Amino acid sequence: MSLPSPTHHWWQTGVIYQVYPRSFQDTTDNGVGDLAGITQHLDYLQDLGVDAIWISPFYPSPMKDHGYDVADYCDIEPLFGDLDTFDKLLAEAHQRNIKLIIDYVPNHSSDEHPWFQESRQSRDNPKRDWYIWRDPLPNGAPPNNWGSYFGGPAWTFDEKTGQYYMHQFVAGQPELNWRNPDLRQAMMDVLRFWFDRGVDGFRMDVVGLILKDEQLRDNPPNPDAPADLHKNDLLGRQLSVYNMDQDDVHEIMREFRQLAEEYEDKVLIGELWGEWDRWLKYYGEQGEGLHLPFNFRLMWEPWEAGAMRRLVNEFESVLPDFAWPNYVLGNHDQPRFASRFGGRAQALVATMMLFTLRGTPTWYYGDEIGMMNVPIPPEKIQDPQAIGLGAERTRDITRTPMQWDASPNAGFAPEGVETWLPLADDYEQVNVAVQADDPASMLSLVKQLLAVRRATPALNRGDYLCLNEDDPHCFVYQRQADGVAYVVALNFTGEERTTAVSTSHLSDNTTHAQLILSTHLDRTDETIDLTTITLRPHEGVILRLS
Ligand code: NOJ
Repeated sequence: MSLPSPTHHWWQTGVIYQVYPRSFQDTTDNGVGDLAGITQHLDYLQDLGVDAIWISPFYPSPMKDHGYDVADYCDIEPLFGDLDTFDKLLAEAHQRNIKLIIDYVPNHSSDEHPWFQESRQSRDNPKRDWYIWRDPLPNGAPPNNWGSYFGGPAWTFDEKTGQYYMHQFVAGQPELNWRNPDLRQAMMDVLRFWFDRGVDGFRMDVVGLILKDEQLRDNPPNPDAPADLHKNDLLGRQLSVYNMDQDDVHEIMREFRQLAEEYEDKVLIGELWGEWDRWLKYYGEQGEGLHLPFNFRLMWEPWEAGAMRRLVNEFESVLPDFAWPNYVLGNHDQPRFASRFGGRAQALVATMMLFTLRGTPTWYYGDEIGMMNVPIPPEKIQDPQAIGLGAERTRDITRTPMQWDASPNAGFAPEGVETWLPLADDYEQVNVAVQADDPASMLSLVKQLLAVRRATPALNRGDYLCLNEDDPHCFVYQRQADGVAYVVALNFTGEERTTAVSTSHLSDNTTHAQLILSTHLDRTDETIDLTTITLRPHEGVILRLS
């Protein structure tokens, strides 16, 4: 839905909205969301103004990691629908000019995938080498010291053939062996299967893990490991030197890219976490790798103007010209940002920041109404991470049903149905229906921000310049394209603040600007003196330079 740009792709100027399918809309009355439920809300997403949706895995799965354990890469989990339901969703999304990005889980399959079922039959099974099998050490211990992200060792012993198989998540997620050419081909064919069906791109799960050190050497100890780590958190006590970001993984990124280039205008997004130097390599040396390695760093910063400014400036300075930036504020693995940053007031300012920084924003379902973390009673916890590493590590708090309206079960499922995770207590007040009728709601702000962003080349593709280096309370920056400049000023505090564009950035004829949008949604068209920008508590503004 972005204005077509001769110089930029949809995945650069557009906004991506992540749907966690279990929690968006249940149309089959079983308490779990499904694909038809997403189709049902495409008008809502179009009206909101998103350009693309990314759907977390919907493949057949025993759900040991809620779909990130895939038992068939080319079909749909019956809980979610079938291939016809998927085709309908795709066609309906495209009719509304919404692109569809799907999840690709290349590091591991489910232990119920037929490939693994075969692989575990015998040491000489033709698919044995599609997974990573090793003999025990002479004392019977696992082949190396690697830990699993969900606690415990990254290896499980399989009695039948007397070897260990590797899994860096739960034991039901055996790791695929990307050094085997047949497996590699089979996984490339999966991409083709979905591209041929018409999807617009992939979000690639833990793609930095898919190649391991050839010798599977022990990871060194992490000297900075916190003393209070959970006893099962072996991985937290190690440095991920040999289990991720191996040099030869980039050859596979190039192959992914070449395959995507056989189609028209597709996008490849990678889930990656490493330090800048390791992370940047996923773009390729000259942009021949992934289009967008996810940039999660906004999620790891405290809610402080100085911290965010430092992060954004550092990011801008390390990024080569060929690399398109992107930012993420929330996803299904992290606490809700409204909770993380201190409340809904802060969330409004964070939202303005996300949609006005340079680069592609990714948005998580429900954040547009300010959904917060939902406490999950111990007996309702579902997440394997909590099961392995303790209840405080549960990601269920961020995966609860979408709050559509004030009816029982919030319009997510009919009354009387037990939803797979509990609903937020405040859903009768915090929901789409209530906020759609409130011109000052967070939902209204998100809509307006997306509309302004779409209509404004400076905001959806313009350059970035930091305009205040020192203010500890406010972050002020400029976005500029085609000679038109906008200033964004964000107050990170709960007090009124006056901030300024530093004079070195002001020329005589641009000392004033026109107010376009405030996060409080109650003022426009004021003329603002750029040397004294007064912001109310938790207020962000977009200004257009005259
Ligand atoms: C990253 C996904 O985002 C997360 O939800 C999942 O548990 C792991 N990868 C394993 O697939």
